[in-house]
Amino acid sequence: MFKTRTAFFWERVILILMVLFMYSFDIAAKDDGLARTPPMGWNSWNKFQTDISEQKIKESADAMVSSGMRDAGYVYLVLDDGWMAKERDINGNLTADLNKFPNGMKVIGDYIHSKGLKFGIYECRGYKTCAGLPGSFNHEEADMNTFASWGVDYIKLDGCFAEQNGRLSSKELAIYSKAIEKTGRPMVLSISDFGNGSWAWGTKEFAHLWRTSYDIYPDIESVYSCANTTAGSTVIHPAFNGLWQFAGPGHWNDADMLQVGNLPNNNQDKIHFSLWSILASPLMAGNDIRTMSADVRKILTAPEVIAVNQDSRGFQGYKVYENKGQEIYNKPLSDGTTAVLILNKGDETTDITVTWDMIGLKGKQKVRDLWEQKDLGKFKDFFTAKALSKHEHLLLKVGNSGDKPLPGPSPLPLEKYSVTKNGTTYLSDLYYIMKYGDAPRMDRNYKNDTISIQGIKYTKGIGCRNSSRIMYKLSGKANRFQAVIGLDDSNTGSEAGRFRVLNEDFFGHQVLFDSGNLTKDKAAVKIDIDVKGIEFVLLMFEGRKVLGNWADVKVITQ
Ligand code: GLA
Repeated sequence: MFKTRTAFFWERVILILMVLFMYSFDIAAKDDGLARTPPMGWNSWNKFQTDISEQKIKESADAMVSSGMRDAGYVYLVLDDGWMAKERDINGNLTADLNKFPNGMKVIGDYIHSKGLKFGIYECRGYKTCAGLPGSFNHEEADMNTFASWGVDYIKLDGCFAEQNGRLSSKELAIYSKAIEKTGRPMVLSISDFGNGSWAWGTKEFAHLWRTSYDIYPDIESVYSCANTTAGSTVIHPAFNGLWQFAGPGHWNDADMLQVGNLPNNNQDKIHFSLWSILASPLMAGNDIRTMSADVRKILTAPEVIAVNQDSRGFQGYKVYENKGQEIYNKPLSDGTTAVLILNKGDETTDITVTWDMIGLKGKQKVRDLWEQKDLGKFKDFFTAKALSKHEHLLLKVGNSGDKPLPGPSPLPLEKYSVTKNGTTYLSDLYYIMKYGDAPRMDRNYKNDTISIQGIKYTKGIGCRNSSRIMYKLSGKANRFQAVIGLDDSNTGSEAGRFRVLNEDFFGHQVLFDSGNLTKDKAAVKIDIDVKGIEFVLLMFEGRKVLGNWADVKVITQ
C-alpha cells in the first residue's frame, strides 16, 4: 500500500517528537523487560555482613514465605559478600565457601527457587570484593556463566578496587551486560557503585539499578542522608532537584538496602519505608526476617505503601517543598492520583501544609492516609498535617483514581548540563551532573570572594574546598579542556592540594592530567588537554583544610 504525503508528514512529525522526547530525558536505557518496577527482595548484608550460611539462608527463604513477604512482592533473595571461597578452584571458577555452604551454591539456588523466590548473588568488578574475596575482574564471562548455571536471577555487582582495572566504567559494564546476555538467562544487574556517578555516565544502558550513596547504617540520619542522594543536592547540582529524571521503568536510582527493622523504633522504620517508596528506590529488606516482630512485618508488607513504590508509571518522587527540615515529596501515579510524603526532620513541632498547586491539582480533592488505610475526606486547595514533631510524617494519596495521569515536572534540558554549542563553554556556566564533597562555588572561590591565584584575579572558574569531585557532561562535543589551576590566595598555611582531570569517573581511573601536590607559593599551572570524543570529565581536587581553584575552566568545541 502506498502512503499518502500526509501520512508521510505525520509519520515524520511523530518520529521527530519521539526523538525529541528521548533526547529530553537523555534516554538510552537497557530495556529487556526486567525490573519494570523497582526490584523487591531481601539481602543478607545489612544484618549479617559476611556471617552467612546455608542454614541462615534457607531459614530466611522459609521466613520470606511464612511472613507474607514473598506474597507482598519481595521475590529476590540476595546473598551479599561472604558466600565464596577465598580462592577460585583449579579451573579458575568461583566456588562457595564450603564451611558456610557445604552443598555449594546450586543447592541454595534450587532451594530459593523451590520457595517461589528468585536467587540473587553478590560479586565485584574489582580483582577482589569489598570483603577481600575473589572479584570478577578478568573472569567476567566465566563468572556470569557460573552464575547462570547456578540459576542466578539477580547480580549485585560492587565497585571496590575497580579503579585498578584500567578500564572506563562504561566499557567495563558493557562487558558484564554482554556476558549476561550471552548466558541466555535473564538476570537483573544491580550496580553498587556507591556515589560514583553511575546515573550520569549511563549505567542505565547496562544495568537495572545503581547505588547513589555510600553504605547505609541503622541510624535515621544515615537513612536521611542516603535518601538525599537521590532526592536532594548531595550528589548533583541543585537545579536537577535530585536524580528523578534518571529513573524510570527498567532503571532505578538505588538509595541502598533497607534498614527497616534495624532502626531504634517503628516510627523511624516507617519514615524510612515511606521515603524509599516515594523515591521509587528498590525495596531490599535488610533485617533478620526470621525473628522480626509483627510490627516490622506489618511495616514491610504495608500494601498501600508498597503500591506507591511499585506504581507502573515508574515516576520517581521529588521534593516540592523544603524549609528548616520540613519536607514535602510528590510522586504522580499511574491512576491519576499522586502520592505525597510530608515529613518533619526539624527540631520544632509544626504544621506542614501541602497546597494543591505544589502537586498539580486544583479544587476539592480526596485525601487518603496510606499507613492507616483510611480516607481522611475531601479537602479544598490544600491539606495541613497538624503538629508534626521531629521525625513524624504522613504518607498520603491525593486525587481521584481514574482521572488523567498528572504531569510530573519537566526534566532539565540537556543544554543546561552538557556541552551542546560550538566555541567556548565555561564549565561554571553548566550544571554539574555529579559531585562528591562540598558543593563547589561557581565563578568565586570557596569563600565567595573573587578567585585569586598568585595575585592574579579571575572572573570565571570553580572554587573548591578540601577533597571534591565534580563531573561534567561533554557528550563527546569538546576538543580541548583548558584551565588555570592553583591554590587560592586566601589560604594561610602551607597546605597542599592536588588537581586531577579524569576521563569519565573515578573507578574508570583514566587520568588525563595530574598536577601533583601544589602549595600556595607555586605558580598557577595552565592546563590545555585533548578531550576529543570524551563523554564526561571528572575534576578532582584533593587536600585538607585548603581552598583550590579551577580558574577559567572551559572546553573548546570547533
Ligand atoms: C560495599 C557495598 C555493601 C556491601 C559490601 C560487601 O560496601 O556497598 O552494600 O555489598 O560492600 O562487602
